[in-house]
Amino acid sequence: LILIVDFGGQYNQLIARRVREANVYCEIVPYKKALEGINEKKPKGIIFTGGPASVYAENAPTISKEIFQLRIPVLGICYGGQLMAKLFDGKVNKASSREYGKVKLNIVPNKDIFKNIKDKSVCWMSHTDFIEKAPEGFEITATTESCPVAAMENTDKKLYAVQFHPEVNHTPFGKEFIKNFLYEICGCSGNWTMHNFVQKTVKEIKERVGDKKVLCALSGGVDSSVAAVLVHKAIGDNLTCIFVDHGLLRKNEGDQVEEVFGEKFNMNLIRINAGERFLTKLNGVTDPETKRKIIGKEFIRVFEEEAKKLGEIDYLLQGTIYPDVIESGTDEAAVIKSHHNVGGLPEDMDFDLIEPLRQLFKDEVRRVGEEMDMPREVVWRQPFPGPGLAIRVLGEITEEKLQIVRESDAILREEIKKAGLEREIWQYFTALPNMKSVGVMGDERTYSHTVGIRAVTSTDGMTSDWARIPYDILEKISNRIVNEVDNVNRIVYDITSKPPSTIEWE
Ligand code: XMP
Repeated sequence: LILIVDFGGQYNQLIARRVREANVYCEIVPYKKALEGINEKKPKGIIFTGGPASVYAENAPTISKEIFQLRIPVLGICYGGQLMAKLFDGKVNKASSREYGKVKLNIVPNKDIFKNIKDKSVCWMSHTDFIEKAPEGFEITATTESCPVAAMENTDKKLYAVQFHPEVNHTPFGKEFIKNFLYEICGCSGNWTMHNFVQKTVKEIKERVGDKKVLCALSGGVDSSVAAVLVHKAIGDNLTCIFVDHGLLRKNEGDQVEEVFGEKFNMNLIRINAGERFLTKLNGVTDPETKRKIIGKEFIRVFEEEAKKLGEIDYLLQGTIYPDVIESGTDEAAVIKSHHNVGGLPEDMDFDLIEPLRQLFKDEVRRVGEEMDMPREVVWRQPFPGPGLAIRVLGEITEEKLQIVRESDAILREEIKKAGLEREIWQYFTALPNMKSVGVMGDERTYSHTVGIRAVTSTDGMTSDWARIPYDILEKISNRIVNEVDNVNRIVYDITSKPPSTIEWE
């Protein structure tokens, strides 16, 4: 295991991804908990991340020098490197201007950490402070025009520091560099693969659960689906999945969940068709947050009612993934999530939790799904909000309006799939703005609904840009929706990014 000590830099999760891509398992700890983490996890190597602070600033994040006495190799990146320099009495200074972008790097030949990397390479820089003087005992191993110490090392102490960012794709040799640190310096063997993960996890779940019963709230989303199949592989029929169909899913989605999990994977699946119950509760409600609350509460009620019928249950399975678990190294960098998933379950239920995906990033979860032969539509499903179409029908919800969104959305998805744009676009759907306008069809004046198309590119949903769907595909989608969906005479395309908009319209 490699431990990544987080000083609040923006690329920290990327460092973890790169390490894992090299088939080495790693975890991230906030810098304040670094020593605890090291004692507990006994890592083979440590990576200090970048961070926004200046090492000489008041209250700048720092670390106990004890870490360097443990004889565990340490790689400091950017701020992490500057901190190492400062703690060993080197000198860090502030440049007159920020160095940002691709920069030529001159590397001292024959260094293990730069193995298989050309002496003249390009790297990515993003910093104002820089290491001006390497501490005693450290050798300078790379320079750039404005950085006298772009890389330094003390091989006796196994300490390495770089000013550039090997974790970003703009440093072309970055992957190789990280691999060198992992394999050459830390002696990692690189056997952490999704195949091994599945085998190990199945074995662990078997041992932990034995003959006891596990319950899962299956939503059809990637995380809960992969978690359910993984646990099913371990304990078979001792897993029961409850699928609450709130009637706010996309076209045919409920049936697909039943088909995949009930039939293909032959899992114990209980589907509760609670559409009418949810619609009754939502009757006359127009405020988005109230809709969310009602749906969340009702979801828990239905789930509890069904769970009670099953008698004794020992464990609750949840599809929590690593980004939900990571605490940031600095308090300022804390990400505030405004919406909780409707899959979020009652806190007062008396279960132990099983969270087999707690260590994985989203792309790793998908690879686990592929490893277990799950259908592509499930593994690569686009994000879909827990409250479903309720927040895509703006204002008051009726069955007629839901039908318009369901049908128009199905057409949009079909055309995006045909055009091969599924993977490029992060999320795409239609929304009903609850607005009617005048149109003409044949010789008749119409007064019907407008449908909005929303399609965005994003990496994590926190920010997004509107997707540039080619005009001819938009044209086809527009024609088909107007012709095939009753009560629609106008289509608009949402061309705002997030911020200032959000991805969903409510
Ligand atoms: P926004 O609209 O905030 O959405 O830009 C960002 C991502 O979150 C999803 N989303 C939700 N997911 N419950 C959820 O489980 C919700 O209430 C909710 N609201 C938005 C949205 O689809 C997008 O992927």
